[in-house]
Amino acid sequence: MVRLLRRERDLPVAAGVRRRDSCGASSELFLYYGSPAMTSDSSAAGWEGWDAYAPFYDWENRRTIGRRDVRFWTDLARRAEGPVLELGCGTGRLSVPVARVAPRFVGIDRSAPMLRRLRSRLRRARLTARTAIVRGDIRALPFRRRWRCRLVMAPYGMLQSLLSDEDLTATLEAAAGVLPRGGTLGIDLVPELPRWQEYHRRVGLRGPLSGGRRVTLIESVRQVREHALTVFDQEFVEWHGSRRTVHRFSLAFRTLTVPQVAERLEQAGFRVDAVLGDYAGEEWSPDASVWVIVARRR
Ligand SMILES: C[S@@+](CC[C@H](N)C(=O)[O-])C[C@H]1O[C@@H](n2cnc3c(N)ncnc32)[C@H](O)[C@@H]1O
Repeated sequence: MVRLLRRERDLPVAAGVRRRDSCGASSELFLYYGSPAMTSDSSAAGWEGWDAYAPFYDWENRRTIGRRDVRFWTDLARRAEGPVLELGCGTGRLSVPVARVAPRFVGIDRSAPMLRRLRSRLRRARLTARTAIVRGDIRALPFRRRWRCRLVMAPYGMLQSLLSDEDLTATLEAAAGVLPRGGTLGIDLVPELPRWQEYHRRVGLRGPLSGGRRVTLIESVRQVREHALTVFDQEFVEWHGSRRTVHRFSLAFRTLTVPQVAERLEQAGFRVDAVLGDYAGEEWSPDASVWVIVARRR
């Protein structure tokens, strides 16, 4: 739990903030780089761990979520008929397909190593002209007061990286602030996290990585039920020939129920339009494998 309680001001995050966006962000979009939450105090640290995870994120997620949710998000983006903002865009698993169908795509993420991968993906896909990628914190979106998009996406458990009610409220209010009345907020929660069995140092996955390397994931899972937290302690052991490198980090997630999230949405100025139990539009139930909420700005 030490990792969860570490304070942001102890970490040299702000020093790495990019001053200029390399993906064509227009200057009228951004108010400032490096939101206050990146330098000020907060006991929650759900953003931690992602930098170390970046080299392995796509490798692992090709074997887990894969492309199951891509169609859902590209359909929502098409229907939005306007700019799309993705919170926690990461390495761009969804950003690239969404940027192909949206007239303008903006992605924000706090992790520079995750964003480096996304930027090169966008370059390879020749999508840099209508995309803007910014390193920042979703709890205080760094956009100009008048900037608006038509869809804010919070995919694949993104909001579960917010470990306190204050952080969730700040993020929902920030999302409401960049949407016009009737604009859409899409949220995908991963309901299985609190159901995850606890275990210690289990070999999760193993296989080849690029460049002739091989990797094994050794994982431990802890449930901190009094705080609705699930903590994954990850150890990626990478082999390159006979050279062995170990990468250790933890990721923490907080899972609220759908009614709890719906209540926070109402308080932040949204109306819940639909709650789905899968990516094809199936009706939601508490034991559904996916919890998707589509809300509109009131
Ligand atoms: C589960 S990944 C999702 C990546 C991508 N959207 C996808 O679906 O594959 C969550 C991402 O959220 C980012 N993140 C977590 N907390 C954040 C925060 N407070 N502000 C900005 N980004 C954050 C992490 O760096 C990570 O890239």
